[in-house]
Amino acid sequence: MSNAAVHAHAPAAPLSAHKSGPLFGRVRPPGDKSVSHRALIFGLLAIGETRIEGLLEGDDVLRTAQACRALGAKILRHAEGRWSVWGAGLGSLLQPAETLDFGNAGTGSRLMMGVVAGHPIVARFDGDASLRKRPMKRILDPLALQGAQVLEEAEGGRLPLVLQGSSEPLPVEYKTPVASAQIKSAVLLCGLNSPGQTTVIEAEASRDHTEKMLAHFGAKVTSESYGAHGRKVTLDGRPELLAREVRVPADPSSAAFPLVAALIVEGSDIVIEGVMTNPLRSGLLTTLLEMGADIAMENRREEGGEEVADMRVRASRLKGVDVPAERAPSMIDEYPILAVAASFAQGETRMRGLSELRVKESDRLEAVAAGLKANGVDCEIVGDDLIVRGGRVAGGGMVETHLDHRIAMSFLVMGLAAEQAVAVDDETMIATSFPAFRALMERLGARFS
Ligand code: S3P
Repeated sequence: MSNAAVHAHAPAAPLSAHKSGPLFGRVRPPGDKSVSHRALIFGLLAIGETRIEGLLEGDDVLRTAQACRALGAKILRHAEGRWSVWGAGLGSLLQPAETLDFGNAGTGSRLMMGVVAGHPIVARFDGDASLRKRPMKRILDPLALQGAQVLEEAEGGRLPLVLQGSSEPLPVEYKTPVASAQIKSAVLLCGLNSPGQTTVIEAEASRDHTEKMLAHFGAKVTSESYGAHGRKVTLDGRPELLAREVRVPADPSSAAFPLVAALIVEGSDIVIEGVMTNPLRSGLLTTLLEMGADIAMENRREEGGEEVADMRVRASRLKGVDVPAERAPSMIDEYPILAVAASFAQGETRMRGLSELRVKESDRLEAVAAGLKANGVDCEIVGDDLIVRGGRVAGGGMVETHLDHRIAMSFLVMGLAAEQAVAVDDETMIATSFPAFRALMERLGARFS
């Protein structure tokens, strides 16, 4: 574990990004965060040795690894990204002796609430100041229908909280109030230990990594379309989960930063390797192509059950577009960096239906608008829409990151092409999802100080 220990939150470290010369080279972003959390969790629930290649060693995922250990898994790190998990097995998790502290990680904490809810154990969940502000009721409500009980919680259903799981979760059919893979996954993970079927219906399809991994580990799960954009997912409870190999593809949400950097820094020409192109994660790509981005998908192939490709990205003249609300689930984490791309585009970009951005690691809608304004970009929030009028980006601002890694990385990318340097008040949180961000960007030619 020596090179992959969870960091206690370090003191804030500001960082500035400066106008850079053309970006060149080939890079591979780190493993996908969503798939990495799930690989460890399924390893915990399976019998035998689950081998993982390309695991993201960001703080968020390391927190999940620690929680899996507390629940009875044996976990070994062989080398960078190469891990093994020997599971406790579905139905046989241990009562954790310690608080499960998820740091900044919304996904890890919420998925693990689903796991705990389906077992006769009691666990205390906690996190950092950002995670303690985030709503957990959306997870706890369905888990209560399945038989779990909240013994303690902070005001408004927030962390820290104590959850008591059930030895026999009830079969449910649950319609999620918002399209959220975290809600869907928590319900399904709890339903794994139910003697009957668990069904989750969502009006807009969210990312499907949990469904794919359930099938990969041997569960019977079906997914059918529901309405115009939704899905209905049904899982048969109490499957025999057997250890499998998991190859984690490169994270499209992390690839988004070098991708947009290459589009906005004049003369750039880069290749981003092995990026997952799962259609439920590809909203940013669709939007950038509509904006006129020069992105070529090369060497399309399959890796670990996901489609991946190398992306060749060249600097482009972008134009403003209207981004429909239905696209939000497939690019939910990419709006901050899209807003940066829109700042350099000619004309107006309207991003519609962004209410979910208010409950991410920060209130991302407000944080993005404040950061844009601090750097001279004309923008406004109208209801749940963000409107950016692009063209000239003066820069020169100091951006408040509010413990949010994606706010930090997005505005550092802005600084590479703005007239004046752009500073962020704290870059430490970048380690939650993309520890090598600065080194990777510098390899392409980005300038930071
Ligand atoms: C995630 C789902 C998304 C996303 C998060 C990762 C996941 O959250 O924002 O970063 O791995 O399931 P919601 O599904 O709650 O929108």
